[in-house]
Amino acid sequence: MKIRRFAMLIVAMAVGTSAMAQSLDIDQRVEELLQKMTLEEKIGQMNQVSAGYQAIDAISNGQVGSILNVVDPVEINAVQRAAVEKSRLGIPLLVSRDVIHGFRTIFPIPIGLASTFDPALVERGARVAAIEATASGVRWTFSPMLDIARDPRWGRVAEGSGEDPYLDIQMGVAMVKGYQGDNFADPTCMAACVKHFVGYGAAEGGRDYNTTMISERALRNVYFPAFKACIEAGALTLMTSFNDVDGLPSTGNDWLLRNVLREEWGFDGMVVTDWNSSGEMIAHGFADDLKDATKISINAGVDMDMMSYGFIQHAKALVEEGKLSEQTIDAAVRNILRLKFRLGLFENPYVDESLARKVAYAPEHLAAAKQAAIESAILLQNNDNVLPLAKGSTILVTGPMADAPYEQLGTWAFDGEEQHTVTPLKALGAHFNVINVPTLTHSRDKSTANFKGAVRAAKKADAVVVFVGEEAILSGEAHSLSDLDLQGAQSELIAAMRSTGKPVVVVVIAGRPLTIEQDANNCDAILYSFHPGTMGGEALADLLAGVAVPSGKLPMTFLRDAGQAPFYYNHPMTGRPNNGSETLLNDIPMKAGQTSLGCTSYYLDTGYGPWLPFGYGLSYTTFEYSNLTLDKSVLNKSDYIHIDFDLTNTGEREATEVVQIYVRDLVGSVVRPVKELKGFMRVTLKPGETKHLMYDLPVSDLAFWNRDMEYVVEPGKFQLWVAGDSASGEPLDFIVK
Ligand code: NOJ
Repeated sequence: MKIRRFAMLIVAMAVGTSAMAQSLDIDQRVEELLQKMTLEEKIGQMNQVSAGYQAIDAISNGQVGSILNVVDPVEINAVQRAAVEKSRLGIPLLVSRDVIHGFRTIFPIPIGLASTFDPALVERGARVAAIEATASGVRWTFSPMLDIARDPRWGRVAEGSGEDPYLDIQMGVAMVKGYQGDNFADPTCMAACVKHFVGYGAAEGGRDYNTTMISERALRNVYFPAFKACIEAGALTLMTSFNDVDGLPSTGNDWLLRNVLREEWGFDGMVVTDWNSSGEMIAHGFADDLKDATKISINAGVDMDMMSYGFIQHAKALVEEGKLSEQTIDAAVRNILRLKFRLGLFENPYVDESLARKVAYAPEHLAAAKQAAIESAILLQNNDNVLPLAKGSTILVTGPMADAPYEQLGTWAFDGEEQHTVTPLKALGAHFNVINVPTLTHSRDKSTANFKGAVRAAKKADAVVVFVGEEAILSGEAHSLSDLDLQGAQSELIAAMRSTGKPVVVVVIAGRPLTIEQDANNCDAILYSFHPGTMGGEALADLLAGVAVPSGKLPMTFLRDAGQAPFYYNHPMTGRPNNGSETLLNDIPMKAGQTSLGCTSYYLDTGYGPWLPFGYGLSYTTFEYSNLTLDKSVLNKSDYIHIDFDLTNTGEREATEVVQIYVRDLVGSVVRPVKELKGFMRVTLKPGETKHLMYDLPVSDLAFWNRDMEYVVEPGKFQLWVAGDSASGEPLDFIVK
């Protein structure tokens, strides 16, 4: 053992020394190249355009540092040749693309990936995406999106990991590792880009691009942690956000980009704007014109301009006029060149043009995508264990999402091809005798014309499976909604199926948490699948047939009504928390006294709580938690909390439970969240099996930014839960000295 450890130490030292030598070497190469560059060439490196062949002259003249949205390897090689062989210094281009949840093989949308609570699987998905995208010549993706999202009206909840900072960290880091692999210079390494820095998900009212008002403490406690963790994990690039925080658009916020990112966190990667977010500071009323926006952006710490053309048009004049220093330009260009050297682009600028088609949709990629789709589906309701459906039984399959190959890929599936998509309708035949009656051509369709035919057909079936939800276009960037009920006549369709008296299973395929509590009254079971991607159909069919067992958990609270938004489980405690005695609209007596309803925090129509809490998800079995103990009830700040408990599978099927650990800091120098997720683990148990489980939580993980804006663990009383969701379980008390 000792010998092995010693050998490992030597290997670690060798790796460490060579990494250090490599980075010294890179820094030297950056300096040497920088010395040779004219001001125009430096500014050219800071310019990113959405073009390939059309930009070939500008590329040959050294006026472009990066391109986006070109994925044809032949075109990529052609423009790369222009950069490497025609431009004066031969600096290769960075080729980028939004590869958000897969390139050709599409995985579930990121909120679906978060529902798996399975970072290893998410890392595998990102690796698959990198292998497929880099085979086309794309070496930089604009992912992961780390924006905490507490409002499902915001369409981009589809693209993130939901409302919880801890889950956000686990998912973000997994993606960074998957995209980038172990060696940046490996041709399958795709640089990650953590975005959108920062607070973009806090858009007021959930309306995309809207203003935000986030205190510095909330930034540090809630919105920053995943960025910091991903940067520590090696994320090579970062994107600024469109929004302002407290009046400062991120692209012009030097406190964010210099003080926090560079000085506090030591980031030595590259900062890119979001699409024209430099130019959009004019619309914000924060810059006079594009020249002013350019000056503000570069001075704030932006390295590369995505699509405003301001840098290429105005930076030179700004330097000549003394409004921008050449040292500031040099610092930005260093960050860009460092990335290009790190990715080995100078040694290896071209891609093998035959590779892309060879690796796309490889069987192991499809298998990983299917596993992700299985693990991401969340069972929300299963009255009388109607699921799984008996194999070989006759089922009526209907609804707009049953056979919608394009729609089930979800938002940001630019390069996924619908002919490779397996829909539920295609896959269900392997398990059931399927009667298909199409109803509603898309999710917004209001025509009930085919409902009667479906009702008639249901008579011949043992059960009805209705596929409803949202088309891809209804979520994602710029696609906010103020009403989160099912669109079109989908609720009517569910009700019509209910009238048949047959068991009704609803499968929701959507881009965000919808408000479906009322629909739940009209069906027996609900399986929720955030747009599941290429292999969604097979995954859902396996789940419905019981070949696979649901294990997904909600990464966002599911609301009763959109009017409850924003609602998130880890909210700060109010001074008048609701104690469960809500008087709702119909129960209020006439002329009730002003204060007779109790004066606590709830809505008169929807009450206090959401429909379903964060972390919720059923299985085809049941789990019991017991014997929860902590080894000590009084701990020092340097201790670990040793948590012990038993988990029993009390049902009849082997299944996986996502065990969740929550903590509450009872009294703080500032108001603390009512609960915070601090750990989770996936545990698989056979029927009747009990496992004794342990988890070591460092007390240091209880730190937060306190009243004095210091990151500390404050001594005092805490509570800890181990449970299957954020609303269950009985807490244990402990004290930190
Ligand atoms: C705008 C989006 O906000 C960002 O996430 C994306 O990466 C860029 N466009 C590039 O397409």
